[in-house]
Amino acid sequence: MSELLLLNGPNLGILGRREPDIYGSETLADIEQAVAEEVAEFGWKVVARQHDCEGEMVRTVQDSYHVVGAILNPGALMMAGWSLRDALANFPRPWIEVHLSNVWAREQFRHQSILGSLADGVIFGLGAQGYRLAARGLAHRTGAATP
Ligand code: DQA
Repeated sequence: MSELLLLNGPNLGILGRREPDIYGSETLADIEQAVAEEVAEFGWKVVARQHDCEGEMVRTVQDSYHVVGAILNPGALMMAGWSLRDALANFPRPWIEVHLSNVWAREQFRHQSILGSLADGVIFGLGAQGYRLAARGLAHRTGAATP
């Protein structure tokens, strides 16, 4: 069975009780379930990982070259995760960067992603729905879904 990597970075393991006015009330388990439902029709299994440490994010990327694609919310590593960027530069599969919040409407220090230029697509500000849309986008990108 083909696998889709769903990788979330620092502070995303506490979704649901993390600033819900910004990040919503859905938990990471809810999001993982939603993505699994979204890709079931393509015969894909979701491998969900969440790490608070950059090194663990790097290791997961290195260990996931076999997946069909990846959805990544790097959290604050979008701004400073240079070793994660190096790992993603060598990642051989399509991947989409997702952010729950619209970072452009927030503090200035969130206005840059050092990872986005490597991604196949980037989604900001659509809340948990962004993950579902990323899953569908990957299905189209890989040819699993027909146009
Ligand atoms: C986030 C946005 C980042 O700026 C922040 O550091 C996060 C969450 C989002 O999903 O909106 O941890 O990636």
